[in-house]
Formats: sequence, C-alpha cells, structure tokens
Amino acid sequence: MSIRLRFTLALTAVGGVLFGTYALWAYRSERDDLRTAATREIRIIGRALEASLGHALRDQQGADIEATLAMLDRLDPNVDIHTYDPRGVAIARSQGATSDAIVDGFVARAGSTRRELVAFDPVDDPDRLVFAAPLLADDGVLLGTVAISRPVTDLDDDLARTRDRLIGMVVAFLLATMCAGLVLGTVHVSRPIARLVAGVRQIRQGDFRARVEPGRRDEIGELVGEFNAMIQVLASETEARERLEHGLQRIDKLVTIGQLSAGLAHEIGSPLQVLAGRASGLRTHADPEVRRQADQLVGQCDRITRIVEQLLSFGRRKAAVVAACDLVEPVRAVIDLLGGEARRRGITLALVVDGDARRLRIDGDRDQLQQVALNLVKNALAATPPKGRITVRLDRDGDRVRLSVADSGTGIDPETRARLFEPFFTTRATDGGTGLGLAVVRAIVDEHHARIEVASQVGAGAEFVVSFPEVSHG
Ligand SMILES: Nc1ncnc2c1ncn2[C@@H]1O[C@H](COP(=O)(O)OP(=O)(O)OP(=O)(O)O)[C@@H](O)[C@H]1O
Ligand SMILES: [Mg+2]
Repeated sequence: MSIRLRFTLALTAVGGVLFGTYALWAYRSERDDLRTAATREIRIIGRALEASLGHALRDQQGADIEATLAMLDRLDPNVDIHTYDPRGVAIARSQGATSDAIVDGFVARAGSTRRELVAFDPVDDPDRLVFAAPLLADDGVLLGTVAISRPVTDLDDDLARTRDRLIGMVVAFLLATMCAGLVLGTVHVSRPIARLVAGVRQIRQGDFRARVEPGRRDEIGELVGEFNAMIQVLASETEARERLEHGLQRIDKLVTIGQLSAGLAHEIGSPLQVLAGRASGLRTHADPEVRRQADQLVGQCDRITRIVEQLLSFGRRKAAVVAACDLVEPVRAVIDLLGGEARRRGITLALVVDGDARRLRIDGDRDQLQQVALNLVKNALAATPPKGRITVRLDRDGDRVRLSVADSGTGIDPETRARLFEPFFTTRATDGGTGLGLAVVRAIVDEHHARIEVASQVGAGAEFVVSFPEVSHG
C-alpha cells in the first residue's frame, strides 16, 4: 500500500471517529431538546385546562367541560383529553379519545399523590407523551383529574431529518478528507518520490547527469538536495577515476613505447652508421646519377638518425627531480635558445611575465620544464609563417601558475587536434618531425600533476596552456 493511501486512510479514520462522535452527540442533544420542548408544551396546555376544567367541575357545569374539550379538539385533533371525577371514573373525553389503561393508571397516581405527572410512553422509543394532573378546589378538595395524551410522531420526523442531515455531513466530510488526502499526498509525497526514484534509476544505469528538480522547501526537497549533491560527488569521483585510468593507460603505453624504442634504436644504431658511411662514400662517385642517389640516401639516413636519437632520449628519460623552482628561468633559456631562429625567419618571439616572478614558482624538475617549453615553442615556430608572432606568457590564475604559448600560425584542424598527444603522430614527417614532442610534454605535465589545454582555430593560430599547481611550501 502506498504511503499516500496509508496517510489518507489514517486521516479519514481519525476524522471519521471524531466527526462521528460529534454527530452522535448532536443527535442525542437534539432529541433531548425536542422532548424537553414537548414536555413544556404539554404542561402549559395542562395547566390551562386545570384552571378551566376545575371551575367547570366545581360549578357542576358539564356542558362547559364538553365545550372546552370540543374547542381543543378542533385546535389539534391529535391531542386526546380525558376528564375524570374524584373516584377515577371518566366523565368526558375529547372526540376520538378512548379508554386507555395506561392513561387510567396515570390518572389514579395523579389523584392519589395530588401532583401532576408527565412521562413518555413507552419509556424507550416512545410513541406518545402523557400528562395527568389533579383538579383541586381552593380548599384543596379533589374535584377530579385531567389527562392529556399527545402522539410524538412529529418529534420523530424532526429527529429523522436531523439524523439524515448529520449522516450526510459525516459522509461529505469523509469524502472531502479522502480527496484532500489523495491530492495532497500525490503533490507532496508521491510525485517528488517518483522523481527521486527515476533519478536513482538513471544513476543505476550509469548516467551521472541525472539531477532531480529540488521542488519544495520541505523534507523531501532536502532529501532531493542531498541526493543531487551526492550524485555530483559520485560523478566527479567517477570522472576522476576514469581520468586516472586513462592516464595510467597512457603512461603504460609510453613506458612500453620508451622501452621498445630504446631497444630498437640501439639495434638500428650500428647498421645505420654503416649505411650512412657507405652512402657518403658514394657522394664522390664519378656518375652524377649515383651521386644524386647517394645524396638522397645520406639525407634519409640523417632523418632516421634524428628519430633514433629522439627515441633514445625518450626511452632514457630520467625520473623527475622535483623541487620548488622558478618557472621563469627555464622558459627564458628556451626563448634565448630559439630567439635566433625566430629572428632569421622573421617571427616575433616575445616573453611576457605577468606580475611578480617570485609568485611564479612551482614544484617541478627544471630540465623537464625546459623540455616542455622547448617543445611547445618549437611546434609554434614550425606552424608560424614569416611575420607571425609567438607569445610565451607566464602568469597566475587563482592558485595555479600558467605557462601559455600562443602563435599566429596555421592552427590545428579537428582531426589533428584529436591525435595531438599520440606518440609518433606528426604532420611534419617530411620536415623531420617524429611526433614525440607533445607525447613527451604530456608525460611531463602528468608527472607534475599539471593540466594542458589547447585552443585553436584553423588558420588563426593555436594556444597551448599548461597550468601547474602552486608551490606547496615556502
Ligand atoms: N602550435 C601548433 N600549431 C599547429 N599544429 C601543431 C602545433 N603544435 C603541434 N601541432 C601539430 O601536432 C603534431 C604533433 O606535434 P608533436 O610536437 O608531437 O610532433 P612534431 O612536432 O610533429 O614532431 P617533433 O616534435 O618530434 O619534432 C604536429 O605534427 C602538428 O601537426
Ligand atoms: Mg614538436
């Protein structure tokens, strides 16, 4: 059974008991009120009759008695009136009234006690009200007795109407309570919980983007808020785990590639030297065609040698020696190193140090940081045409220290963008590119717990931003 239904039923039951008790009480007090009113009414009639019938009896005016009874009978034919002499013998009755043992009993009691009597007959579930009173002379002598009997069907009709009205009210109240319970339960409980359940289901299926609308500011709203916060934590933890896994895979790959390529480079080294030696020997050959071919051989051998050297340095990369170090100095060294080449090619190479250099310190390995700057600036130089501009900037962004290299070169198309950091991916194979530059940068960035981001528009240059965590001490 749903919470909504349970609440509604409980509410209805409590309401039913309370309102039912009230209705019963109201019914009883209405009945008592009606009976009290009827009793008072019959007493008034009785007292009026006592006076007029008392006089008539005293004066022995039988005709007066008959006239009084006839007049009352015309006023209300349902009321029966009986008049008795002091011995209890009936002397006159209103029309339709007949001798009746119970009325006779009342009359006998009223005569002997000399007091008036009023009672319902029968006592439980009465169908009439009976009144009896002695008729006394001024000196206290009993002249006779008068009795009145009045049916109570009109009382019963009134009571039945009251009962029906009360039952109708109770039923309407219960229906209203039930409807209100169901509607409020749906709006405040069932719906928000259903949304929460849907959210949980979505999470179970691995979709961490699920968020539930907070809705109202109540306990359920609070629960939803907590749920959303929990999902956020879960999502970021899952993301961090996935990033870590990817990173580990990449490092694995790099290590394997490093080991394999170092071995391979070693193997290739000696035969390559022999090849290069023979080829350069042939450059002095008499036949120009042989000389041309020999030149090509030497050129290609040089290229292979470069790749092999890169591979060897990649494979032998030392573990980082991390210490608090200044980022400006190694970057400046790179700018100095490549400044000449930039000038020769008509490219402006500028270093911008934003703010206090002492605040640009990080935990890192100086040589490796230099390697990062070198590879990024070399790539920028390779992509930038004459009259272009390369800006290397060092600054802080919040509590991170940033190195950015922006060029006005060719930019990077989406396909290249997707494979930038892949070892051996290069679009510059013909110009001696090995495709290891950015792979090395990536490995170093990861070792420094830094982040690298690339922004580029085809034809409008590229910007590589490496952001390091601030130095952790001093
Ligand atoms: N600033 C840049 N502008 C445009 N393309 C770039 C830029 N930097 C890198 N690239 C692209 O990324 C590729 C991979 O770069 P990476 O440095 O890994 O290798 P490479 O420069 O081709 O070779 P190597 O660095 O070994 O000489 C490049 O071939 C080039 O296509
Ligand atoms: Mg490169």
